[in-house]
Amino acid sequence: MTRRPYIVGNWKMHGTRAMLSEARAIDRAAQRHMKVEVALAPPYTLIHPIHREAEQIAVGAQDCHHADGGAYTGDISAAMIADAGAKFVILGHSERRTGHNETDALVRAKAEAAFAAGLRVIMCCGESAETRESGKAIAFVTEQLTASLPALADLPGDIAERLTIAYEPIWAIGTGTAATTGDIAEMHGAIRKLLVDLFGEEQGAEVRILYGGSVKPENAAEIFAVPDVGGALVGGASLTADSFMGIALAASEPFEV
Ligand code: PGA
Repeated sequence: MTRRPYIVGNWKMHGTRAMLSEARAIDRAAQRHMKVEVALAPPYTLIHPIHREAEQIAVGAQDCHHADGGAYTGDISAAMIADAGAKFVILGHSERRTGHNETDALVRAKAEAAFAAGLRVIMCCGESAETRESGKAIAFVTEQLTASLPALADLPGDIAERLTIAYEPIWAIGTGTAATTGDIAEMHGAIRKLLVDLFGEEQGAEVRILYGGSVKPENAAEIFAVPDVGGALVGGASLTADSFMGIALAASEPFEV
């Protein structure tokens, strides 16, 4: 890992202002683990309150609309979340792709809008259990990512700073059973190859690839030891400072011995 490990909490549709104390505890703990980049994606309603208080962690959103503005009742634009203090946005999460019928083309349009608003993007990908069982997981994820990523190579600047990939096999999300280290190694290797093909040797090697899907303090160290794992996107275990920072600690330990 050339960049700092990146540990991102995805609170999904969890959290009212009562959770601000947990965010504070995460922020305080993050100040003691500076070799790890810790970030939180709370619901929209908590982006600004957490941003206002946080000294160390970056705050992000879990989605944004692809348009700059307009007659889209109930939606929120990339510029709006940036204005609230978001520094990044998670896009293409399987819960959005499945629950909101988001296509690769829509996810790509959202990513373009997010980059235009100056946000960093965490682009999610991952196969279903059926796809894995049919032996097509790598082909599926490669195609999904290729179709979801904007043509970043045409843009100037540091791609690895703006883009992070999160590999989250759908069958591992919220189930308590993470993918095996062998499966993670194989998929992250395939994603790395794709990134190098898309963005060139230098830039493609730098983009961090997070693993997500039932990451917990108990399995984090073995997952972080897998080649090409640059951190984790954490759902359930990010809801308390204790378990979330247990994962961050596992990411920082190899650097602190
Ligand atoms: P989980 O969720 O850690 O609860 O499995 C991960 C995610 O969906 O980002």
